[in-house]
Amino acid sequence: MTQELWSAVDHYIDDELGLTDPVLEAALASNAEGGLPAIDVTAAQGKLLYMLAMLAGARRILEIGTLGGYSTIWMGRALPPNGKLITLEFDPKHAAVAKSNIEGAGLSEIVDVRVGAALDSLPLIEAEKGGPFDLFFIDADKVNNPNYFEWAVRLSRPGSIIIVDNVVREGGLADATSEDAAIRASRKVAELLGSDPRVDGTVIQTVGTKGYDGFAIAMVV
Ligand code: SAH
Ligand code: DHB
Ligand code: MG
Repeated sequence: MTQELWSAVDHYIDDELGLTDPVLEAALASNAEGGLPAIDVTAAQGKLLYMLAMLAGARRILEIGTLGGYSTIWMGRALPPNGKLITLEFDPKHAAVAKSNIEGAGLSEIVDVRVGAALDSLPLIEAEKGGPFDLFFIDADKVNNPNYFEWAVRLSRPGSIIIVDNVVREGGLADATSEDAAIRASRKVAELLGSDPRVDGTVIQTVGTKGYDGFAIAMVV
């Protein structure tokens, strides 16, 4: 089973379910034009984020790692008109492309793109009493995932959902001897899910156009 097959199945799913649309396509095109890396979630994954937000009845969402706002648009579409999505992005160029894409999606009123290192922005969000958030999507620098997870719990309420992208890392998650900092950080998140009484959750492996990876999905108890 190959990457070619995983991509073919993702394309089939996108077409058959009508997952994409001109706004999402335009966002990906502006990302490419702006030289942003094509590391957004897939359409099928974006739809999962949208569904989780809808199921949760989310009104406040916090995203860490905006890139061009592709995942932001998916989640933003699940919010009611008075909802709020704060998304944190380190790179000002990524943030500028994201703002334009979010505007194109008609979500500027709901989405707040904050530029800076997430670990600097998070204390400000706490000080502003911007929370609690109903759903978190953690998808930035992977080495900080345990720190972001801790912040998510801190800004949550019982029942909040925390999703962490890219934790399986082509199977690296199972390698106890790995010295890769991102893999070690993923393992720490898994360890927290198994041992931290504040949360419960699972890890789901995924294949598709973005390769072999997976999500940690947690709920605050
Ligand atoms: N969620 C996006 C993809 C995010 S890619 C989507 O699916 O569409 C990861 C992003 O995290 C990049 O844009 C990168 O610049 C940003 N990032 C990296 N380190 C960061 C940090 N310390 N704080 C905030 N954002 C960071
Ligand atoms: C990378 C980052 C991501 O968030 C992702 O989904 C895939 C790849 C990366 O940094 O390479
Ligand atoms: Mg990701």
